[in-house]
This record gives sequence, C-alpha cells and structure tokens, in this order.
Amino acid sequence: MNKTALVTGGSHNIGQQIAIVLARHGYDVAITYNSRKEGALDTQREIEALGRKCFVYQAKLQISDVPQKIVDQAHKDLGHLDLMVCNAANGGYRGGILTATPEKLDEAYNLNYRNYIICAAASARHMVADKIAGNIIFITSIRAQRAFPDDYMYGGFKAGIERAAQSMALELSQYGIRVNCVAPGCIWPQSLDTVRNQFITQSIPLKRVGTPEEVGELVAFLASDKASYITGISILQDGGLVLPGMWEREEPTVWLDPDWKEREYQEAMEMVAKSKENE
Ligand SMILES: NC(=O)c1ccc[n+]([C@@H]2O[C@H](COP(=O)([O-])OP(=O)(O)OC[C@H]3O[C@@H](n4cnc5c(N)ncnc54)[C@H](OP(=O)(O)O)[C@@H]3O)[C@@H](O)[C@H]2O)c1
Repeated sequence: MNKTALVTGGSHNIGQQIAIVLARHGYDVAITYNSRKEGALDTQREIEALGRKCFVYQAKLQISDVPQKIVDQAHKDLGHLDLMVCNAANGGYRGGILTATPEKLDEAYNLNYRNYIICAAASARHMVADKIAGNIIFITSIRAQRAFPDDYMYGGFKAGIERAAQSMALELSQYGIRVNCVAPGCIWPQSLDTVRNQFITQSIPLKRVGTPEEVGELVAFLASDKASYITGISILQDGGLVLPGMWEREEPTVWLDPDWKEREYQEAMEMVAKSKENE
C-alpha cells in the first residue's frame, strides 16, 4: 500500500516542494491551493511525472468548515492518510500590539492557528479509525521561538502551534501517531533575486537562505521510520539564523567583523602547525 500525504498550501514555495519531495519518497499526495491554480497544477504535473498520484483542491482554509472537508476529501481520494502536513499560513499577519483589533486577530487566528488544529484533529481521527500509526507535521517558524517586534500575531500563533503539538504528541502516542514541527528560518526558491539574497545572507551564519526542498527533505525524514522515536519536538531549520545573541558591547558584533575572523583563523592555523610539530 502506497504511503499517502495531504499537504496544505502546495501551490508555492515550501508546501509545493514538500509535496514534490514526498512524491519522490514514494507518497501519493493531495494538495490545497488558495489563489495560485497554475502553481498547484505545476505541482501536480511534477508529481504525476514521478509516477505518483496528486489530487488538487482549491480551499480557503480560514473558513470554518473547510479544513475538515478538505481532510475528508483527501482521505476519500487517497484511500487513507499516513501524513498530514499543515503548511498553509500567511506570513503577512504582522502588526504592532498598539494597533491590534479583534478583526485582525480573528483573521490571523482562523488561518494560522484554527486551520492547523482542525486539519490535525480531522486527520488524527481518520488515522485512529484506520489503525494507522501516522504522522502530523506542522510548519511553524523561528518566530515561534524568538521575539520580534510587530509579531505578536504571526509569531504568537506559531508558538501556540508548537505548544499544542506537544499535547497532541502526548495524547496520540497511544495510537503510535507522531506529531512534530519544522520551524524554518529564511526559505526561498533559489530562483529569487540575488539582491535580496545578498542582504539577508550576510546575517545568516551558513551564509545562504534555505531551500524549500530542504524543508521537504526534513518533513520526509520526520515522517519516515528513521525518525520512529521522535515525537513532540520542533526542529529549527534556519542555517543558524537565531543563534547570534544580543551583543552587549558598543562596537559591531565580533563574528561579523572580517579582521576578527582573520585573526582567529591565523591563530588557529598557528596552533595546528604547533601541534603538528609535536606529532
Ligand atoms: N518562507 C519562509 O521563509 C518561511 C519562514 C518561516 C516559516 N514559514 C512558514 O512556512 C509555511 C509556508 O510558507 P511559504 O513561504 O512557502 O508561503 P507562501 O509562499 O506564501 O505559500 C503559502 C501557501 O499557502 C497557501 N495559502 C495562503 N493563504 C491561504 C488561505 N487563506 N487558504 C488556503 N491556503 C492558503 C498559498 O496558496 P496560494 O499560493 O494558492 O495562494 C500557498 O500555497 C507557512 O506556514 C509559513 O508561516 C515560511
């Protein structure tokens, strides 16, 4: 029996590549899109070229009964569900707390929190009924774990998802269902313009943005038997982006200073030479 997965937001960037990478790993897939029908059909074409099935649904996942209906439809079309990937969210729900309104908050909550939870609940019910020790994976963000200004909504709901995932992992462990999160940093398709890339890569320790394929591979790993003892965690996938601490000195942070790096390198090489003399 083929493995099966539902990936929300499979028409673009991270969700698109999660769906394609899963197909490469042998999954039949169902995806949703909101506005980019062409993107969704591209995903479908790539997956079908790999010899796998791909069902495509248009869905506005912020609408109350839509997440449940989409999961039921995917379960019907795929025959069963091994993996639910909750990915579709809007990174634009930003704003300061001083300008918060109930309307803004409801909109962000409906898509970025309620949609994730209802998709997880609906897919878990099918897995339990079908006696499938499946996986639920939430795409969250480094913003779940670090504070940024203008981010009480997006970051706050991502943090809520990570905490909720821990409770779900506890509850669903008795059925063998694992629940984990992937928390990306800055992930763009390689085709995006290099000017933006150059600006951001200066401050990422691994000196590049991440690719959506890399997120797809991490999702595939977490859902595989290789990760069979992993549940209730969130893996940061950010090239070290959140590692640098707040610098308490007046001069620029040392790890970005080319002179400091050169001095460190030279001293280290002298130490290597000395240790070789003693060999
Ligand atoms: N890219 C990053 O650097 C980054 C960093 C941290 C976390 N993340 C998280 O990773 C996930 C994917 O991000 P991304 O950058 O790939 O996003 P994206 O390029 O904006 O794609 C979002 C996907 O979600 C769908 N979507 C958007 N609004 C929707 C709605 N109202 N109902 C149903 N589907 C909707 C989009 O559909 P259409 O394209 O058809 O409209 C698209 O398929 C999100 O959860 C995001 O928070 C991304």
